[in-house]
Amino acid sequence: MADLSTELARLRIDYAGRDLDEKTVHRDPFQQFRSWLDQALASSLREPNAMALATATASGVPSCRMVLLKGFDPRGFVFFSNYNSNKGVELEHNPLAALTFYWAELERQVRISGTVERVSAAESDEYFAVRPPLARIGAAASPQSSVIPGRAWLEQQVQSLQALHPDGAIPRPAGWGGYRVQPSSFEFWQGRRDRLHDRVLYTFETGSWKIARLSP
Ligand SMILES: Cc1cc2nc3c(=O)[nH]c(=O)nc-3n(C[C@H](O)[C@H](O)[C@H](O)COP(=O)(O)O)c2cc1C
Repeated sequence: MADLSTELARLRIDYAGRDLDEKTVHRDPFQQFRSWLDQALASSLREPNAMALATATASGVPSCRMVLLKGFDPRGFVFFSNYNSNKGVELEHNPLAALTFYWAELERQVRISGTVERVSAAESDEYFAVRPPLARIGAAASPQSSVIPGRAWLEQQVQSLQALHPDGAIPRPAGWGGYRVQPSSFEFWQGRRDRLHDRVLYTFETGSWKIARLSP
């Protein structure tokens, strides 16, 4: 069997397709993100809206997991989750978070950091209502991040809720809803040849976005 570290060291692709110039990017990082997201959406990628969400406890212990981007506008990046989950508890005590998108086929990464707040109850209701019935039941049935007795227990919770709401018209649980990440920085990374990648950083300082190129 081949040595794993040799195998991993051999994995190497050269990024060649596109470039990114701090002089020609959109001055507004939201517009720059929108243009990259539109290209990702048009590229038949699997889950182009998947993003890693990093949070940390109040004492700084980090954790990271994937979530799905469900809304994006100048107010920030919206995802939905369980407010009592591990991430929910961490965000309650430490509202700082980071997001990373990776669009491998486009050789692009976007990193965002900022402050997180809950979206309005009306916004959460609106999104919950358009989820498919089984996704609504699943969200209500799952005490996300809690230890449970087994798969059968979870399926029993789903069956009980289905019996109570045969049409799937279950109200949004109070402990489930949206979060909005309000960015204070963005970094756009475009893979280039020979590891000389392009990195453009936007930081919000004294009322406007400053743009800089970072060394790869
Ligand atoms: C591609 C992908 C998308 C996911 N999207 C979400 C999501 O939008 N919301 C969510 O709560 N969990 C989502 N999950 C599950 C989370 O990664 C995680 O398991 C869950 O939120 C519990 O995390 P926590 O214990 O850190 O709170 C997703 C997982 C994957 C792999």
